[in-house]
Amino acid sequence: MSANTIDMPTEALSLKGERILLVGGAGFIGHHLALALRRAGAEVMVADSVLINNLVSLVVRRDIDPVRRALYQGFVLERFALMRDADVDMRVVDARNMYELSEVFNEFMPTKAVHLAAISSAVTANKAPALAYDLQITSLRNLLELCRLRQSETGQVVFFSSSTVYGDFENDWVDETVRPRPRGVYANAKYIGERMMREHERLYGIPYTIVRPSALYGIRCISQRVTQKFVENALMGKPSRLEGGGSGLLDFTHIDDLTDGLVRSMALPGGLSRTFNLTYGAARPVSELAAIIRDRFPDARFEEAPAAKEKPKRGTLRIDRAREFLGFTPKRDLSVGYAAYCDWYKAQWEKTAASLGQG
Ligand SMILES: NC(=O)c1ccc[n+]([C@@H]2O[C@H](COP(=O)([O-])OP(=O)(O)OC[C@H]3O[C@@H](n4cnc5c(N)ncnc54)[C@H](O)[C@@H]3O)[C@@H](O)[C@H]2O)c1
Repeated sequence: MSANTIDMPTEALSLKGERILLVGGAGFIGHHLALALRRAGAEVMVADSVLINNLVSLVVRRDIDPVRRALYQGFVLERFALMRDADVDMRVVDARNMYELSEVFNEFMPTKAVHLAAISSAVTANKAPALAYDLQITSLRNLLELCRLRQSETGQVVFFSSSTVYGDFENDWVDETVRPRPRGVYANAKYIGERMMREHERLYGIPYTIVRPSALYGIRCISQRVTQKFVENALMGKPSRLEGGGSGLLDFTHIDDLTDGLVRSMALPGGLSRTFNLTYGAARPVSELAAIIRDRFPDARFEEAPAAKEKPKRGTLRIDRAREFLGFTPKRDLSVGYAAYCDWYKAQWEKTAASLGQG
């Protein structure tokens, strides 16, 4: 029996004896989580198709220049190497295929499973609705069915939802009691996934944890969100767009804070059958990102652009519930975490450009 308690720091929590399956675990969040779970003593198996926002998509993409292609491929290969060195097992599996997933599942017999498989960009998901629904919902259906059939073994399924389920914020903040009003393919697929999780708990007694992260940033991300785009533009000498003057709010969250919260949700009993916002817990205007960029890259340029009408109005995702049940305390303020990320990115960029003779 684990002696984990809510007042313990994350590094002291133990998941020893747990076998944790990460479906879609070779992506940005998945590989960081796999490493964090190994540090907590769990056995970890990753099942990933490596098709979406991963190795294969990088090779076939035409919209990036040679430096960025080499840089992203380097990040992805480093993910695999880090997982290999940490004894994370990995299988190339398309989780939409029940046969493929069940082979891994039945061999590994997870005590916990985490579902991350998705098109993880709302903009891309809206452009490919059939694929987006299929990847998220069919893979989740298969995972939940396997857990139902092996109910006595799998004690917890963690589902990666998103802050986008809230839709347009009516106030500056939301907590988990605010009724979701999802807009668009991505947010609706997440909301459908949440409902599948709750119904499986109600009908078949499979304990769940739903997490709603927001605006993540951190090393080895290739998703080209605003945090990455601003750095790349600065490095390429291109101007970045400041929509609405940078007044839009986002609850920027460092990947290490998120993985701390996830380890806590799996190690502590308060993580079971609840929905949590897992963010930094304080929204910041995009203009603050721009200020950090200007500090790290004095030549960086920004262009004012009108506010994007299609983007939902966002704000703070309050984390009082995660604090109460998980003792979750994010530690990486944007001013420190993002500045360190900028410096790391610049070093990686320069190394890659030099290796291509473009330094
Ligand atoms: N990154 C963020 O800011 C953020 C915020 C909120 C929620 N999320 C959610 O967290 C999850 C992980 O996000 P990420 O940033 O790591 O994305 P990512 O694109 O880096 O990783 C997703 C992984 O899922 C895999 N995958 C997709 N379909 C699959 C399938 N059918 N079978 C097996 N593997 C499959 C991909 O190959 C990829 O490796 C996603 O569900 C995403 O929607 C991410």
